[in-house]
Amino acid sequence: MGEFIDPAIVPKMKVNTGEEIPGIGMGTFGSDRVSPEEVSNAVAGAIRCGYRMFDCAACYGNEDQIGKVFKDAFDEGVVERKELYIMTKVWNDMHRKVEESCRKSIADLQCDYIDMFFIHWPFPNYHAPGCDVDSRNPDSKPFSVEEFMDTYRQCESLVEKGLIRHIGISNMTIPKLEAVLPLMKIKPVACEIELHPCMQQKELFDYLVAHDIQVVGYMPLGSPQRPERDIMPEDVADMELPEMKEIAAAHNCHPALICLKWSHQLGAIPIPFSVREKNYVSNLKSMTEDPLTDEEMAKIATLERNNRLVKGHVFLWPGAKDWHDLWDEDGKIVTVEE
Ligand SMILES: NC(=O)c1ccc[n+]([C@@H]2O[C@H](COP(=O)([O-])OP(=O)(O)OC[C@H]3O[C@@H](n4cnc5c(N)ncnc54)[C@H](OP(=O)(O)O)[C@@H]3O)[C@@H](O)[C@H]2O)c1
Repeated sequence: MGEFIDPAIVPKMKVNTGEEIPGIGMGTFGSDRVSPEEVSNAVAGAIRCGYRMFDCAACYGNEDQIGKVFKDAFDEGVVERKELYIMTKVWNDMHRKVEESCRKSIADLQCDYIDMFFIHWPFPNYHAPGCDVDSRNPDSKPFSVEEFMDTYRQCESLVEKGLIRHIGISNMTIPKLEAVLPLMKIKPVACEIELHPCMQQKELFDYLVAHDIQVVGYMPLGSPQRPERDIMPEDVADMELPEMKEIAAAHNCHPALICLKWSHQLGAIPIPFSVREKNYVSNLKSMTEDPLTDEEMAKIATLERNNRLVKGHVFLWPGAKDWHDLWDEDGKIVTVEE
């Protein structure tokens, strides 16, 4: 076993229920490149080195394998269920059957209940795992408040039934949040957004903070191994930027750790993915030592390029203009093209 970082010294974030939850989690999306076994082996190692939060999803196709790892850790007394904060997500093809999806994730993950249950995307638009960028589902529809709230109500009933503790939302925009937040009976605890130095989403970030919704930052390292469908020639590699390398050199570490410190110091919970013990240990450890200076934070703020990596082409509905339609960039919800 590698180095153990005492979870007691890993920063926590106080959420709107008053509870403190881990300030960093491990991502578990193999990006269509890394097998379920490699991911679950990394989860096994990560628990033993001190990770206490895991970001899972039904559509990552590996909950079954990760569940075996959780069960072994519980059986071997490595960790108790209540010490872990397990997150998962309902996939877009299960918006009408949220409880079934949740029960399957609980069974696969062998974890009795889910700590944070996300609505992965605010659309019921399904794409097959591993599909390419041109793949479209003719049944795809634009965002609908009614459809989303029906899905959200099902999540609220899962809280009431004790199957989940907290509700999360993901891939939302301010116009969509404005439309649905007033309709919710149980407030979402967190929102998962893409967050790395070249995609800072400051307006959305500030909106979530103002509404006391915890930001969980996905792709915190700029996801260098992301699926082929999410790689465009114009994308910028965050960790390759000279400014990031320079700050990393000053801290004598890899730029990955600078990305994580930045995300944490902004107030987000980063959820980096790695299958290499050396990397996932140093990612966790980076939260406990050697913070960035105000000057370094200010320097990274200048690296914003609005470089969205998960553009979401595969969720587009017939008649949609292009992927920008998913993100309501003109400040109103894009439904059908006029
Ligand atoms: N809600 C959503 O819609 C959504 C969308 C995308 C992702 N997510 C979540 O966010 C998580 C993170 O995103 P991601 O996995 O796409 O990308 P990421 O965490 O930004 O990047 C992961 C990559 O960085 C490398 N890496 C990790 N630590 C490193 C280190 N210390 N030094 C150098 N390289 C390092 C990893 O390689 P090695 O394995 O070789 O270390 C891996 O290729 C996902 O796993 C998933 O749980 C959610």
